[in-house]
Amino acid sequence: MSFNPKLCRNESEVESKLIVQYLLPTLGYDASKWHQEVALGSIRLDFLALTSQIFPKISDSSPKICVVIEAKHPKQNLNLHVRRLRRYLTKLQVMYGVLTNGKDFRIYQLVGEQIDLIFQCEGSEIADKIEKISDIIGRDKLAGLETNKSIPAIALTNALTNQIDITLPSSENISLTTPESTTMKTIAIYHNKGGVGKTTTTINLAAAMSRKGLKVLIIDLDSQANTTFAAGLMKFDSEEDDTLKDSNIYNVVFYPKSNYIHEIALKGSFTYPEVDVIPAHINLIWQEANLIDKENSKFQLIKKLDLVKDDYDVVLIDTPPSLNLYAKIALIACDYLIIPSDLKPFANEGLRNVRNFIEEIDEFRTFVNRSVINVLGVLPSKILTNANYIKATLPKQEKVVVERYGFPVLETRIFQREDLSRAIDNFVMEGDHQIPDPKSIFDFKPDSMSAAEFEELANEVLQKIGLRS
Ligand SMILES: Nc1ncnc2c1ncn2[C@@H]1O[C@H](COP(=O)(O)OP(=O)(O)OP(=O)(O)O)[C@@H](O)[C@H]1O
Ligand SMILES: [Mg+2]
Repeated sequence: MSFNPKLCRNESEVESKLIVQYLLPTLGYDASKWHQEVALGSIRLDFLALTSQIFPKISDSSPKICVVIEAKHPKQNLNLHVRRLRRYLTKLQVMYGVLTNGKDFRIYQLVGEQIDLIFQCEGSEIADKIEKISDIIGRDKLAGLETNKSIPAIALTNALTNQIDITLPSSENISLTTPESTTMKTIAIYHNKGGVGKTTTTINLAAAMSRKGLKVLIIDLDSQANTTFAAGLMKFDSEEDDTLKDSNIYNVVFYPKSNYIHEIALKGSFTYPEVDVIPAHINLIWQEANLIDKENSKFQLIKKLDLVKDDYDVVLIDTPPSLNLYAKIALIACDYLIIPSDLKPFANEGLRNVRNFIEEIDEFRTFVNRSVINVLGVLPSKILTNANYIKATLPKQEKVVVERYGFPVLETRIFQREDLSRAIDNFVMEGDHQIPDPKSIFDFKPDSMSAAEFEELANEVLQKIGLRS
């Protein structure tokens, strides 16, 4: 059997063609020993292969003779994922880690709290070097190392696994169970003031979470449809080609028994892994009157989201800079709220409206037996990078938010940086035509300060909503 790296065009092909179809069988892990969707305590594994059917004890802290495999997209630079693999191996106390994007293949070994690169080759060399690979992580080899304390196993993780709290259960035995689905968390991004960074936050936070392996859905509830554009869904330039007109968020909230999320959602091309997006449309402006007449429209989104609660980990809702019905629908449907604000006087004063609006919505939510909105905080956004400002003025403005308006302030700050607007304005030339090709900051400039800030924001938010430790 041989392996051709050219067959792997995306992450799931690296997983299926390299790992499942080639590597595991070649290394001696036959299909009868594979288990899919396995829960290891709080860890979810896509895939687990054992040398025997007996599940081992994992309670002691000595390194386990097993291998964690992480498959990445062929365009991903593996260097960026070594730290995460290290965290994974050290937390799980797992001896070996394989990191591959199909083009680059590496094996790391746990040494104390560090991991050492012990083998590396190109994707095209894997078949030639399979003996060497087998000598390190082959089933016979690992079974030979097996003691009654160790787990000779191969666990193929997805990125999500890495984000979940990796603590081993204290019980002696663990069982092969289907993992409990993490409860889908819905976060609205809202401020009634315009231009404070709601759309920028929605798009880049979604991308950051998606890169961590979370399944993310974006909902655009703003008739300006800026998020729909920024997600790469508006590449048409004539009205005739506008396919969004009859298939957007309006359909979801207007029709009770059709137009479900999966029928309306499109794949946004702004980031990889792709994120599902329910688009908005300029027609939402006049269609609002139709919805106001329909009392139930306030509940449709909740009902339809409930139908996909096992399909997504996080739903991010972008909202209009307004107190209108669409903003209400978002705030009624969400579990959590992030309020981006540039913290300038107008935006801060606007927080009073946000406060009153939340109170009104909470009253409604209580009335319909829904818990009140959990405000994650005001997100300092579009913050000036001037050192004096950061030192002197910013802390005062943040204090005002807490003391005068009673909102917590998120720790992460998103600074004003040109890269963020350039990423959304990105385009490609097709002949003489400029075709919009908006990108998330991670896909536009992954090494930028802004990418690091959004990564930090994702970590903070995921921790606050209980999706990671
Ligand atoms: N951190 C930032 N640094 C630089 N430019 C930014 C930043 N955040 C947002 N912008 C730019 O500011 C403008 C407004 O941002 P954005 O569209 O995200 O705000 P918004 O709150 O969604 O606006 P609206 O209320 O109109 O929907 C956009 O041109 C965006 O590219
Ligand atoms: Mg916006």
